[in-house]
Amino acid sequence: MKMRFLCVVVTALVVLGGLPFSSDAQLDPFFYQWTCPPVRHVVFQVVERASQKDPRLPASLVRLFFHDCFVQGCDASILLNNTATIVSEQQALPNNNSIRGLDVVNDIKTAVENVCPGVVSCADILTIAAEVSSILAGGPFIKFPLGRRDSLTANRTLANQNLPSPFSTLDQLKAAFAVQRLDTADLVALSGAHTFGRAHCFFILSRLYNFSGTGRPDPTLDPAYAQQLRNICPQGGPNNLVNFDPNTPDRFDKNYYSNLQVKRGLLQSDQELFSTPGADTIALVNRFSADQNAFFSSFAKSMIKMGNIGVLTGNRGEIRKQCNFINRRSVEVDMGTVASESEEGMVSSI
Ligand code: HEM
Ligand SMILES: *[C@@H]1O[C@H](CO)[C@@H](O)[C@H](O)[C@H]1NC(C)=O
Ligand SMILES: *[C@@H]1O[C@H](CO)[C@@H](O)[C@H](O)[C@H]1NC(C)=O
Ligand SMILES: *[C@@H]1O[C@H](CO)[C@@H](O)[C@H](O)[C@H]1NC(C)=O
Ligand SMILES: *[C@@H]1O[C@H](CO)[C@@H](O)[C@H](O)[C@H]1NC(C)=O
Repeated sequence: MKMRFLCVVVTALVVLGGLPFSSDAQLDPFFYQWTCPPVRHVVFQVVERASQKDPRLPASLVRLFFHDCFVQGCDASILLNNTATIVSEQQALPNNNSIRGLDVVNDIKTAVENVCPGVVSCADILTIAAEVSSILAGGPFIKFPLGRRDSLTANRTLANQNLPSPFSTLDQLKAAFAVQRLDTADLVALSGAHTFGRAHCFFILSRLYNFSGTGRPDPTLDPAYAQQLRNICPQGGPNNLVNFDPNTPDRFDKNYYSNLQVKRGLLQSDQELFSTPGADTIALVNRFSADQNAFFSSFAKSMIKMGNIGVLTGNRGEIRKQCNFINRRSVEVDMGTVASESEEGMVSSI
């Protein structure tokens, strides 16, 4: 009787466990339907409250998701702090003194752990944070599939390599996206995220004062706008902040594209999409500028595509307890013997 019961339990575990935990498991928008139904709501509330104090936060969280996904996939590798075994991505050139929202991500994790302990990955928390940020800023509802797991590694070298530079030409931007299997349409749609948030003046000083050593401003920058920008960004003010969108700085709308059409893109990498002669991106800029629905649905589609990059599913990776650190690892002691460290740090062999 007891044996039979055990067999049934074991069989049920194998059958039920087989699908969601097999290593080719797929992401699914309803992944937490049974294990953490309120997760989206919980994330929404934390981000909403934090945004009231910091209206820039939704932009920062969307960028954090992008910087996670472009470096060994959407696996929360960006959240790992420096430790003996981790070289954090947070100090990579595109991230250092630039990424924001890490503390809010930890607040979200705490709130989620309070309702569903040990269930929701930090990678999915970054994903849902991007989802609710878009909504809070007036952007599209992006119904992200979920079920990502968290990495055991980070890679600062890769962060330096993969994240595109604001001084890129269009060809370089396309190449950086192609590495992630994102195409030109994705590049144009995702760049529309530069409709909100801020940049450090550092990235545009050369455009304002001495473009490519010409001693003149960037000719693809509208002179009146350049003058406004010089007021915000004096030559000695690389750490000043400037809005991506001068009119609706915290709102997710299609203004990014109408700004490009009048040479008011902030970064060189932005203006390249419209001002590169003969580029195939120009038609897309015009289309998104004319039609917000077209932009929103393309943005949502490309965000989901970006959100699928290099995800860990099934039994790969782990669900971190604390987003800044991997869980305590089993340590291989010697051939065939595996020991695991308990919470107290004692070593017991299995
Ligand atoms: C196409 C290549 C891209 C380049 C070269 C680029 C570059 C940059 C730079 C230099 C900044 C300012 C950082 C600072 O001054 O600290 C920035 C900010 C931002 N980026 Fe991008 N980015 C790109 C694509 C994207 C994508 C794909 C997204 C999201 C889908 C994104 C979302 C943002 C947001 C929302 C901000 C403002 C963040 C804040 O205010 O905290 N960017 N980007
Ligand atoms: C992780 O590192 C960041 C700086 O990159 C720091 O602000 C934060 O306090 C660290 N978190 C923990 C839990 O040590
Ligand atoms: C990151 O920025 C800090 C200044 O805030 C600087 O001291 C540090 O050297 C930078 N790290 C890297 C790896 O560039
Ligand atoms: C990081 O990425 C680089 C470039 O792809 C690779 O050569 C290196 O082995 C990776 N390092 C780690 C620690 O995974
Ligand atoms: C512009 O930059 C070039 C090369 O970096 C330099 O030689 C030149 O003196 C600069 N011009 C001005 C006006 O600052």
